[in-house]
Amino acid sequence: MLDIKDLYCSIEGKAILKGLKLKVKAGEIHAIMGPNGAGKSTLAKVLAGHPAYTITRGEVTFKGQNLLELEPEERAHAGLFMSFQYPVEIPGVSNFLFLHTAYNVNRKARGEKELTAEEFAKYLNEKMALVDIKTEFKDRNLNEGFSGGEKKRNEILQLAVLQPSLAILDETDSGLDIDAMRVVASGVNHIMNKEMGLILITHYQRLLDYIKPDFVHVMIDGKIVQSGGPEMALQLEEKGYDWLEKSPDAEVVK
Ligand SMILES: Nc1ncnc2c1ncn2[C@@H]1O[C@H](COP(=O)(O)OP(=O)(O)OP(=O)(O)O)[C@@H](O)[C@H]1O
Ligand SMILES: [Mg+2]
Repeated sequence: MLDIKDLYCSIEGKAILKGLKLKVKAGEIHAIMGPNGAGKSTLAKVLAGHPAYTITRGEVTFKGQNLLELEPEERAHAGLFMSFQYPVEIPGVSNFLFLHTAYNVNRKARGEKELTAEEFAKYLNEKMALVDIKTEFKDRNLNEGFSGGEKKRNEILQLAVLQPSLAILDETDSGLDIDAMRVVASGVNHIMNKEMGLILITHYQRLLDYIKPDFVHVMIDGKIVQSGGPEMALQLEEKGYDWLEKSPDAEVVK
């Protein structure tokens, strides 16, 4: 469903992605690991259509369409979902209103009937139970004053509500306590299905104990330098990234 070919991008003249290749098929879970600054969040943002990045080379197809030609909202309508490493706070917009609107916009774009507030409330309650979020979070302003872990949990609620075909979760596990990590992981496992693809960006092997990836990729300096199975995450935890071959054009920092 997703095919990234030789992708290069830059921001303010600085090259970040440098020839990235990745294929994700329906039903697959891919974990992307890699050192700080490798370009993992950049990849997620570029796929979601963040306007600050310039694509200098490469192709991305998503469900047979040229993803790079689509506006960010068209990408969302096509079934792409991205959770942020740093979720934004939106004062004045309740979580309920945000989710209801996002849900209906997607349904409308797909030619489906929109849900009334009442119908949506019922649907939302089921999803909130899935990720174990207290009902009071419906009426609170989106992410405002949410703790770090609550924001991450709320991102998974959005995922559950929107049921995208491809989800990219950027460090959903960071800042979660151990119980919350289990809840979030079991929520993700519930949501995941054979028609869906999932990309998990994470620094920690522990998340992958709960959400089993089919593939683990290591990204260094803007490209994937190594891919393997779940066992590679254990190896990385033990050995770090130094044993991996750096790309030849990697900058040497003295
Ligand atoms: N506006 C900008 N100007 C210059 N460099 C930028 C800009 N935005 C991002 N970068 C750089 O792009 C690189 C990749 O950042 P990115 O957030 O994708 O890394 P990451 O792999 O997600 O790291 P982390 O593991 O710390 O989240 C970093 O070196 C960052 O400083
Ligand atoms: Mg990041």
